[in-house]
Amino acid sequence: MKETSVLFLLILTSVLSRAQIQAIRLTVSPSRSQFFEYESVTLICEDENRSDGWTVRRNTTRGTRKRCEGWGKLNGSTCNMNYLVPLDTGLYWCESMSGSSSSSSSIQLSVSGGSVILQSPVLPVMEGDDVTLSCRARNPTHNLPAAFYKDGSFIGDGPSGHMTLLHVSSSDEGLYKCNVKGHGESPSSRISVKEKLITSSPPSSESVTAAASPISTPPPFTVGLPVFIHLVVFSPYFISTLILVSLYRHKDKGDNLPNSVVMISSTLDE
Ligand SMILES: *[C@@H]1O[C@H](CO)[C@@H](O)[C@H](O)[C@H]1NC(C)=O
Repeated sequence: MKETSVLFLLILTSVLSRAQIQAIRLTVSPSRSQFFEYESVTLICEDENRSDGWTVRRNTTRGTRKRCEGWGKLNGSTCNMNYLVPLDTGLYWCESMSGSSSSSSSIQLSVSGGSVILQSPVLPVMEGDDVTLSCRARNPTHNLPAAFYKDGSFIGDGPSGHMTLLHVSSSDEGLYKCNVKGHGESPSSRISVKEKLITSSPPSSESVTAAASPISTPPPFTVGLPVFIHLVVFSPYFISTLILVSLYRHKDKGDNLPNSVVMISSTLDE
């Protein structure tokens, strides 16, 4: 049946596109992209379907695509790095053990041999969110007045070491760093902003009432499908009826239509 195969294809593509989006991702704990020398960090490969079968790889000046071996301790899908050194600065990502093409997007980690780091989000931030940057000195640990820079240009002072970017958009993307007078400058880290998808609506009074109704938030394809099937199944009947009607109109101009045509068009009205 035509309708069945169309339905099957629609469901299949919907399922596949969902699986692709959330296949595998790398999370960092603590969640930041800059570290002082001798700090530790944990990298975790998170997969919705399988809990293992993934390894962390990295590109640094010391080598490319290096597995979590020697430079880190692999435990399941978790890679622990206990004593970071500046040479650990590089790109990190998750890749399946089997060496197939599936991998997560990569993140940049920087290890400072100096005494200042910038604490900024390591994962892309959502468009419209507020993002707080913190400039941290190694000694003393409390926050000192700092200056912030984006792509090499001064963007503002943070009297207590913090600066907040309000309602970020793609124009806020760039390389950020900070400077504490008398202590030094941090490495640079990229902030990426991801576009807000139309489908992911924030909780509002509208969606609360929708959830309370009997038809509570169906997946997108179930909304579109009845309309689609309706068009595929019923539009040929509708079009042929229109043709029939116009043919009869043409034939006996102004005269009453035959009963059969009136019957067809009245059933369509229901
Ligand atoms: C790591 O380096 C290799 C070799 O230069 C390159 O092909 C690959 O794209 C790099 N990986 C990432 C995530 O940038």
